[in-house]
Amino acid sequence: MQQLRVTVLFVLHCLLMTATSLAAPEVKKCEELQITHGPYLTSPRGTSITIVWFTNKKCVSWVEYGDGETLSSKAISAQDGLIDADNTRHVIIVDGLAPGKAYRYRVVSKEILKFGPYHVDYGTTVASDVFSFHTCDPQKDKFTFDVVSDIHGNATNLQKMLDGIAWSDVDLMVLDGDMISHFEQPEQIFDGFLDVCTAGFAHCKPLVYVRGNHETRGLLARRLPDFLSTPEQRFYYSFNQGGVHFIVLDSGEDKEDSSKEYSGLVAFDAYRRKQADWLREDIRSDPCRTADFRVALFHMPTYGGNDWHGERQIRELWSPLLNEGGVQLTICGHTHKATHIAPQTDANRYDVAICSPDSMIQVQVTRECLAVSWKAVNGNKLPSSFTIPRNISQK
Ligand SMILES: [Fe+2]
Repeated sequence: MQQLRVTVLFVLHCLLMTATSLAAPEVKKCEELQITHGPYLTSPRGTSITIVWFTNKKCVSWVEYGDGETLSSKAISAQDGLIDADNTRHVIIVDGLAPGKAYRYRVVSKEILKFGPYHVDYGTTVASDVFSFHTCDPQKDKFTFDVVSDIHGNATNLQKMLDGIAWSDVDLMVLDGDMISHFEQPEQIFDGFLDVCTAGFAHCKPLVYVRGNHETRGLLARRLPDFLSTPEQRFYYSFNQGGVHFIVLDSGEDKEDSSKEYSGLVAFDAYRRKQADWLREDIRSDPCRTADFRVALFHMPTYGGNDWHGERQIRELWSPLLNEGGVQLTICGHTHKATHIAPQTDANRYDVAICSPDSMIQVQVTRECLAVSWKAVNGNKLPSSFTIPRNISQK
């Protein structure tokens, strides 16, 4: 009996030791400060760009940048006089830049160990490699932009598409919605596409984010702007690059607001009407009217889709304005079928190009034309390439 008791105690001791040793990796206090995601570029403009990154510990952060060899300028983010601090997410708008110029930058984060009211204890500092970017340039004669959509978290497929890109020619990468299927954990957005984008290009080439209907779903959908910062913190905005005025719109969900899937928590009808009011103003603005080309980017197509509620509403609200504004090309996703719909006199007076989960769209822009083509990862049949000449399609 005594021997049994000793054996039981020994086994319990071993189990305790094993549990302790298994728990050893929990010593997070000793973990080094690291940049866990990014930096990646968003919201390209002629005079500004937004840089986003994440750290494993709470920090205060800044961007060091310059247009020469030295990174002599510093950009911070502050609200109401308080520099953003004690965060693991870092978003800094670098502004006051010159259009069409190359800049070099690195991001820097300093750990905050203890945040007291009259004294803050700092820890170590971490910095990224030095990367470069170009600001948008309305005078640029020639550039290329690429569009992917409906990746639905399939980073492997996305990687295959990115592998074929000659990045030296590409100025912008449009993420045209449904990059993930729903948003409940931050890892979904990083593992699903953002880390692949960062490793491939997004530390040097900006992302142009277009929200898809699937990204409005899930507990974290309302925190999407924390990860994909957009101009003026809206999912509808415009900017110019080369001869193109880009109009980004948010087509929202596909079904009626009252559909049971949304549990009474969406109001997309009013949101799409609000965007129509904004679009009406944008098409009358000088940057739009004076551009060589007008290209609109939104997830659900006005034509060529499933004709559900959301698509019908944007066809009624937005399409007449796109016609009136002389938009020559809309690029969408959503249908999962690569499609080209040519202009029609009584409907879309613009080309509709739709990309799919396994095909991306590439647009080469010159002062004379837009050349639109599809590239597939699996040899699927694709629409024929087409061009939109400026002299014919201009208002
Ligand atoms: Fe979709």
